Amino acid sequence: MKRYTKYMFITENEKEEAKKIVKSLTLHEKCLLLSGKDYWHINDLGKFHPYMISDGPSGLRQQLHEADYFGIHESEPSICYPAPVTCASTFDRSLLYQLGESLGSDCLDQDVAMLLTPGVNQKRSPLAGRNFEYYSEDPYLSSEMASYLILGLQSKGIAPCLKHYACNNQETGRMISNSIVDDRALAEIYLRPFRAAIEKTGCPAMMTAYNQLNGIYCSENKALLDFGRAIGFKGAYISDWGAVNDPLRSFQAGLSLEMPGTTNETSEMVENAITQGQWKEEELDQRILPIVELLLSHERILKNKPQRIPFEQRKTIARSIAESGIVLLKNEEHILPLKNNSITVVGSFAKHPRFQGTGSSKVNPVEIENLLDHLDHMYYAKGFDEQGHTNEVLLEEALQLAKKSETVLICAALPASEESEGFDRKSLELPQGINQTIETIAKYHENVVVCVMCGCCVTMPWIDQVKGIVYTYLGGSYGQSALANVLTGQCDAQGRLAETFPRTLDQIPAFEHAFDPKTSEYLESVYTGYKYYDQANVNVAYEFGYGLSYTTFSYSNFSLHDHTVSFTLTNTGERNGTEIVQFYAFSSLPFSTKKLLDFKKVKLDPHESVEIQYDIKEEDLKEYFDQWILRQGEWMIAVASSSRNLHHTFSLQIQGQTVDFIPHAYENAQSVPLLTREDFAKLCSIERAQQNTKRPFDQNVCLLDLMNSSWMYRMIAKQLYKMTDQVELLKTAPLRILKMNSIGRQTREGLLDVFNGHYLKGYKKINRSEIKKFLQENT
Ligand code: BGC
Repeated sequence: MKRYTKYMFITENEKEEAKKIVKSLTLHEKCLLLSGKDYWHINDLGKFHPYMISDGPSGLRQQLHEADYFGIHESEPSICYPAPVTCASTFDRSLLYQLGESLGSDCLDQDVAMLLTPGVNQKRSPLAGRNFEYYSEDPYLSSEMASYLILGLQSKGIAPCLKHYACNNQETGRMISNSIVDDRALAEIYLRPFRAAIEKTGCPAMMTAYNQLNGIYCSENKALLDFGRAIGFKGAYISDWGAVNDPLRSFQAGLSLEMPGTTNETSEMVENAITQGQWKEEELDQRILPIVELLLSHERILKNKPQRIPFEQRKTIARSIAESGIVLLKNEEHILPLKNNSITVVGSFAKHPRFQGTGSSKVNPVEIENLLDHLDHMYYAKGFDEQGHTNEVLLEEALQLAKKSETVLICAALPASEESEGFDRKSLELPQGINQTIETIAKYHENVVVCVMCGCCVTMPWIDQVKGIVYTYLGGSYGQSALANVLTGQCDAQGRLAETFPRTLDQIPAFEHAFDPKTSEYLESVYTGYKYYDQANVNVAYEFGYGLSYTTFSYSNFSLHDHTVSFTLTNTGERNGTEIVQFYAFSSLPFSTKKLLDFKKVKLDPHESVEIQYDIKEEDLKEYFDQWILRQGEWMIAVASSSRNLHHTFSLQIQGQTVDFIPHAYENAQSVPLLTREDFAKLCSIERAQQNTKRPFDQNVCLLDLMNSSWMYRMIAKQLYKMTDQVELLKTAPLRILKMNSIGRQTREGLLDVFNGHYLKGYKKINRSEIKKFLQENT
């Protein structure tokens, strides 16, 4: 594979120049740099070219008019690329690099300087609402995908912003919840992708998450921000939109920029704090330095005018990613690729595909394809609508048309409203009407193929009744021609699962579907995803790394010399094909977990063979027990095509350290790697927070607290719910975020007084026109 080099996003000259500029600024100017000029711009002080920031992972969401972080207001048209989940199932570093270049070119076209991507939060639960926006349950795969995307973006002079730092793994109560995570899980699972991406790319910006990590809001969590510095992060810590709890504490801890802008409330407050000796100007200088560096580097990029990828080529890249990310889960009797036979396509998603998720990554696509335009010899029946509802008439029509064809293709999906930032899913099921349609047709027709278009896994109760299952994930603007190419065999089915697909909801550890808006204890510690399912031997539907090709491969001639594994991979079929060779390590040492060490994407012609070598790096076997340690003992290195399909396993004696201080708490977890609450408490001594359940409330009070405090607020809440469709978000949005909606400090204080029962005092402080404007704009 082509080697992509680390690109020094900020040059040495710019670093020197930035220092001089910082020195020359007045205190007032320095403080202005600490928060955005508006919703989407860094404050350029009128001295630099305007610096625009935009979302996001699936394409450019440049909002030039009304702004929001929920994808409500329109953005400028842009290519919608496949969602990160689709990107991850390509296991293709080079495609991710090209995606970075394409996104970078889009940014250059629209004069956007920083793109808020990639997100490397781990998929801790399959129910998490934002899973479509994240790569994988495996930290190594996530970090590789993110790193190559960053390198591609940076090569076009666009600043990436790695997000959401850290442990933002649920949407329920995301702005207030406290993620309680033990040190080992933090090091091995949750911080690892950030670390690897920083080391590999020198990324110039990182977004601090909404939630608290071990009791402290991420934007003011000094330990977290210091950790980033310790692993070499030299860029700007930028808050997620509305994630700052206490601005001064955040800047003191290391934050550089509060977003979005707060009409000078923040800068005035910091300026006062410095004048009154509560904070040192030298520290302020350190915080704003990376911001000035970004402003300067943007000037250079504008002068240099990096070459853009031609627009048509960007579309081809988007289509290639969509093709490569499609995972063929089942292909009984080689029902696919479609022969020249007649087909009936069922499901309104064939006409109106699901191609992206909702929230801040929602793109206004330049175009959207539909599957029907890309298939021949076809009947079409609606079967069910885009909410997944069916009825007898639709079912009957679908059944009659199905009977006319040799093959039936059913396009299933989750309704768009179910996959979004801001809330989690409640179940793993597809809408009942879709399951019913598939089951009804499969009863009468033996050649049924289901195409599933979602950004996350779903349960498939009809799994044994159909011959083919094609998981398209969310393919973006060109996902439907990509799907047609895979269905008709114009390209191989190349994708592999970057996450485990449980068979039923019950297979997910209980705490992963009972999201608590206030506290999230990561009881499973390091046993996430396949590390749990494989070790506990859960009979899942499809394991991590799984996916079929249209051809077959054989693995032979295994050898291990020193630390180098060699073997031969042969395409034993009659078609060109792609294999994703995976390397895993595991050991019989107590409390170790299986882990993906590396992967290679290999394309082979029929009967072609290739020698593959892989160098085992002992560094990759290290585990975190208060420090990174290579444990002495027998380690297994497997050559595999999924986390469970191991073709050969080598045993390796490692001369490492013996560890006699493994936390006691893991002992009970040895056979089934789940910790009890008591074990976890020993491992992680952070207390479950019980904040804001009683008066006096603080500025993090949310509707949920108020509703629990009196019947009056319950009534008010019910009225509010009628005015918005963002109920889940509304319930747990803290009072402080009203700052983002231009509600001034005095009004917020007044509201807090009222919530605390000081009605008159509070009422006097409230600026009613601010509230009126807010309600007009938001209801
Ligand atoms: C999201 C971020 C996004 C930001 C700006 C937040 O709600 O968590 O991922 O970049 O909004 O839209």
